Amino acid sequence: MIEHRLIERMIAVMDRHQKKIDGGQDPDPRLLDDIIDFLRFYADRCHHGKEEELLFRALAEKPLTQTMRSAMERLISDHAHSRKLVGELDELNGKLRSGDGTATGGISRILAELVIIYPDHICREDRVFFPQAMKYLDPQEREAMLQAFTDFDRRLIHERYGNLVQGAERR
Ligand SMILES: [Fe+2]
Ligand SMILES: [Fe+2]
Repeated sequence: MIEHRLIERMIAVMDRHQKKIDGGQDPDPRLLDDIIDFLRFYADRCHHGKEEELLFRALAEKPLTQTMRSAMERLISDHAHSRKLVGELDELNGKLRSGDGTATGGISRILAELVIIYPDHICREDRVFFPQAMKYLDPQEREAMLQAFTDFDRRLIHERYGNLVQGAERR
């Protein structure tokens, strides 16, 4: 839930930028790079990564109610949908950089969609899913989950820069 607060701040940045684009301003490719990097690495790899690989995986072993199981499946499909939108945004930003002005409409449309879907997703997790999920974990399991989150985060910096060096070596 703490991570959701940082995601909301970037969503507010995206909302402001989308409104400026709609008002006739050109999209800013460098700001879009930051938005894409944040959504890919922080929101998806780091945040959704902990949800899917640790929390949801542990919950999947529990006798969840049908409502809870469907809510979890919907959250997972939201993650996949945002991942797809961010991929499209990255492609459009590439087009924009190469001087293709037709990318602007698509960039605005994707930003507007992300600005709507993220807060709704976060609201379902914060207000309903996470409080319900805690009922399936005993205090020891919750403690182990927090430790696993910390370990997951610690590995990410090495994963990120390991991948970066590997990519650079191939060039
Ligand atoms: Fe999520
Ligand atoms: Fe989340």
